[in-house]
Amino acid sequence: MKGLFAETLENSLQNAGLSFEWTLFPSGEAQKNLSTVYGLYDACAQAHIDKKNAVVALGGGVVQDTSNYLAATYLRGVPFIQIPTTLLSQVDAGIGGCAVDHPTGKSLIGQFYQPRAVIMDSSTLKTLPKNELVNGIAEIINKVICLGGSRTDGFNQDIRAIINGDENKALDYVKSSNKVKLGIIERDETGTNETRFLLDWGHTITYALERTLNYSISHGRALGIGMHGAAVLSQQLGYLSRDKVRELKQAIEDAGLPAELPVHVDNDKLINYMCLDQKVVARRKRFVLLRDFGDAFVSEGIDDNQITSCLDEIRERPIA
Ligand SMILES: NC(=O)c1ccc[n+]([C@@H]2O[C@H](COP(=O)([O-])OP(=O)(O)OC[C@H]3O[C@@H](n4cnc5c(N)ncnc54)[C@H](O)[C@@H]3O)[C@@H](O)[C@H]2O)c1
Repeated sequence: MKGLFAETLENSLQNAGLSFEWTLFPSGEAQKNLSTVYGLYDACAQAHIDKKNAVVALGGGVVQDTSNYLAATYLRGVPFIQIPTTLLSQVDAGIGGCAVDHPTGKSLIGQFYQPRAVIMDSSTLKTLPKNELVNGIAEIINKVICLGGSRTDGFNQDIRAIINGDENKALDYVKSSNKVKLGIIERDETGTNETRFLLDWGHTITYALERTLNYSISHGRALGIGMHGAAVLSQQLGYLSRDKVRELKQAIEDAGLPAELPVHVDNDKLINYMCLDQKVVARRKRFVLLRDFGDAFVSEGIDDNQITSCLDEIRERPIA
């Protein structure tokens, strides 16, 4: 990120009379853990960071989450400014809390710590590879269609435009996704009444899948499969129509995202990682389910047989 955006950021800071120091860490989900955070604590201590300084996070969702945790905990909290540079992080990881991974599971350690500012510049998407734009579309489907209830007509055309570099179209969707997310966070900032769990829609299978595959699948691609799974579970339990499941699967696949579980992924391993999900109560797994697009709710306990039947239904069929 430094190579791409340092000049612009440094000029802005210098023009504002602000001094700064860079700290870099390698990209990838494998870095989103407490070891990286400890390295960043060392850098903060060496730079004599105090509570009048700010942590500025420039990068994708991994940088946003890791830096958010750093800012929330160093000196019990220092000001935090986010500059998300991927479509996915502008759509979703730019606001409202953070989590880093633990060896036993994804996003297990986190904080609710709000940034002082979030600066999003859709021109940062110019340098983003197409596969990363596609990852961002997964969170757009998640927020705008599934949680926000927008219709899917015309969506495919909009996606093509975003993937072909239409920054204005991307900005429209970044705004509408953030509106949906903020609407939920405003009702329950820290998860006290469980409304915030709605943001977990599609993420139960997603996190378990990412961990099962040792993060060799991107968050966006895992979310394509996770949303399809949660929709199928909603349908199997009698809440969502088959037509809606088909419509969602079509939108996921049209975006170039997978909707089906790879043949080799083991159900028991996946279900085992789901035991660590943040919605679990008294060892009972719970999912966010849909009655319709725009009508999500947190389920009561769901048993492993029901989850297995859903995983079997979304598994890709080997070609005979
Ligand atoms: N806290 C939240 O609310 C929240 C929400 C959604 C996702 N997330 C997390 O976000 C992470 C995924 O984020 P991501 O998809 O941004 O992945 P990422 O941060 O790994 O970034 C993807 C790749 O794009 C590169 N990159 C970033 N900006 C670029 C640019 N402008 N041009 C070129 N390359 C660029 C990065 O270096 C990286 O290699 C996951 O860990 C996920 O759990 C958090």
